[in-house]
Amino acid sequence: MEEKKFKRTTVTAALPYANGGVHIGHLAGVYVPADIYVRYLRLKKQDVVFIGGSDEHGVPITIRAKKEGITPQDVCDRYHKIIKDSFKEFGISFDIYSRTTSKVHSKLASDFFRKLYDDGKLIEKESEQLYDPEAKQFLADRYVMGTCPHCGNPNAYGDQCEKCGSDLSPMELINPHSTISGAKPELRKTKNWYLPLNQYQDWLKQWILEGHKEWRPNVYGQCKSWLDMDLQPRAMTRDLDWGIPVPVEGADGKVLYVWFDAPIGYISNTKELCDAEPERWGSWEKWWKDPETRLIHFIGKDNIVFHCLIFPVMLKAHGGYILPDNVPANEFLNLENDKISTSRNWAVWLDEYLKDFPGKQDVLRYVLTANAPETKDNNFTWKDFQERNNSELVAIYGNFVNRALQLTKKYWNGVVPACGELLDVDKQAIQEFKDVKEKVEQYLDNFKFREAQKEAMNLARIGNKYITECEPWKVWKTDPKRVETILYISLQLVANLAIAFEPFLPFSSKKLREMINLKNFDWAELGSTTLLEAGHQLAEPQLLFEKIEDEAIQYQLDKLAATKKANEAAEAAKDYKAEPIKANIPFDEWEKLDIRVGHIKDCQKVKKSNKLLQFTLDDGSGTDRTILSGIAKFYKPEDLIGKDVLFIANLAPRKMMGIESQGMILSALNFDGSLSVTTTLSEVKPGSQVG
Ligand code: MF3
Ligand code: ZN
Repeated sequence: MEEKKFKRTTVTAALPYANGGVHIGHLAGVYVPADIYVRYLRLKKQDVVFIGGSDEHGVPITIRAKKEGITPQDVCDRYHKIIKDSFKEFGISFDIYSRTTSKVHSKLASDFFRKLYDDGKLIEKESEQLYDPEAKQFLADRYVMGTCPHCGNPNAYGDQCEKCGSDLSPMELINPHSTISGAKPELRKTKNWYLPLNQYQDWLKQWILEGHKEWRPNVYGQCKSWLDMDLQPRAMTRDLDWGIPVPVEGADGKVLYVWFDAPIGYISNTKELCDAEPERWGSWEKWWKDPETRLIHFIGKDNIVFHCLIFPVMLKAHGGYILPDNVPANEFLNLENDKISTSRNWAVWLDEYLKDFPGKQDVLRYVLTANAPETKDNNFTWKDFQERNNSELVAIYGNFVNRALQLTKKYWNGVVPACGELLDVDKQAIQEFKDVKEKVEQYLDNFKFREAQKEAMNLARIGNKYITECEPWKVWKTDPKRVETILYISLQLVANLAIAFEPFLPFSSKKLREMINLKNFDWAELGSTTLLEAGHQLAEPQLLFEKIEDEAIQYQLDKLAATKKANEAAEAAKDYKAEPIKANIPFDEWEKLDIRVGHIKDCQKVKKSNKLLQFTLDDGSGTDRTILSGIAKFYKPEDLIGKDVLFIANLAPRKMMGIESQGMILSALNFDGSLSVTTTLSEVKPGSQVG
């Protein structure tokens, strides 16, 4: 493949919707790889800008706002801050993290649209859309609910049934109703502006299928399957009240489609950055319009069509812009073999992670890169997290650094000794380091972050092997001069590690640089054996990583198990239908029942039964009453002692497990089969009648 010449790189990472926090799936799929790449380019002293921001338009944000009784802007303000803070804490080193509700953005997106409109690049088309006659507004698909025609779920959304997973259109729903007013939606004619993707199909085929065969197979493949079908014009405006107003006469009540404005956010945020610091960044156009600039989009796989087809067509139709050079999209990350889901809270949220594992950002970065879903969906498990921390970060990287620094402290007072004559073993270690540099580069240049990190870890393996082979603690007794050379080489390897790991584990790398007082570092020096001069004073060694104990992992697993249980209960509760009420009975039949309040004096498990509890009740008569009840699965006996319960006092006695039960304690049968004993709200004397 011929290397294209370029002067600078614009790197973007998908703008997350500002209606929720950030979880490990986001980090693994988009932000960590983007950050590794950018840090690598910076270390290579290349000209690069790293653009991020929040995507603050779109229907889900308005739904969330409505649910909470606040404005969409309130929702955005809350989550923009949470997301921005999370990225900062995990070292995602954006040059700017802005938002699509900024002034700069609405102007730029609006002008962009207007130019397409003025140049006749958009098609004006009438179509029938759902309308809420009571709320007097058009309805996004998500705002319509009804019964799923496939599975009968009465709570299916206009675009999807969450029960059976079918994609739906709102017109398919049985008994559709507006979630705003409850009214039955009608179809009304409305005018919108469309991007005629079909007119660009041949161009797209040429540009991607011929011109970008180097794109990842998953990206290329998805593009190909779209391009093998006939592309349709796609509406770039919506009848909605949250978004950027359509800058065209007669477009009242219409806004730009969120997927039109959001990618333009990359450009607006670059502009905001450049306008604020022109001396440092130059003009924003340089980053978006100069053919010598390379544009790279980091995204998740659900964003491929927008970044590879729609946005490029927008840019092409507008003219003057460069197109993406590569779009390294990732597949999805699962959590403990289950799809990550915000609505089911099946996720590891970054803010929670940091509370449970303070200071361990790099551990998560490391594990997520080691399991990066680069070619297929991948899985995060807490066991693997622990394993990789303990047997890789601690046992290999941390261990090598610690050995080298402790030995130097012990034999040489923490000062870099002079290098003597090199033996074969030294030369070999140095050569192996040099070889790894090239491999890491090749992987990083091709967006293979998992492999690249593996190679970086290999450096530490080489270092460990080197020290083990050289055995300085033995040599010390016979040839202290030789130990100087061993330490010298080991310390150079340590300094190399600080450079090699900087893109992947920036926090640890910084800590390590502080320990060895390494001021200047740059990628070109990787493989060098003169990073630390003889006589250079090291700082006090500290541990780079610490072991993660089983308890910490168990805590996380318990938390997930609790989530799963809560989800199952919520799922079952959705389906719960009360039993039909039984046939009426005459009043005098009811009067036959004698229901009383009893005070539980004692409660024991019945031997050899796992269902029965034996109660000793004070029923107000002066003699204790024994009642058996099949609720042992739901209560510990000691938790019931001292409680007041309701019981039927005149049920004919019957024997169970050889014990006579004199009545029945009343319990509610919950939808999930669990039993809950009934009790009184305030204290009532034993024997009181219930009726
Ligand atoms: N908010 C979108 C998502 O989370 C991503 C938008 S990327 C951009 O799927 F290009 F539109 F900015
Ligand atoms: Zn369904």
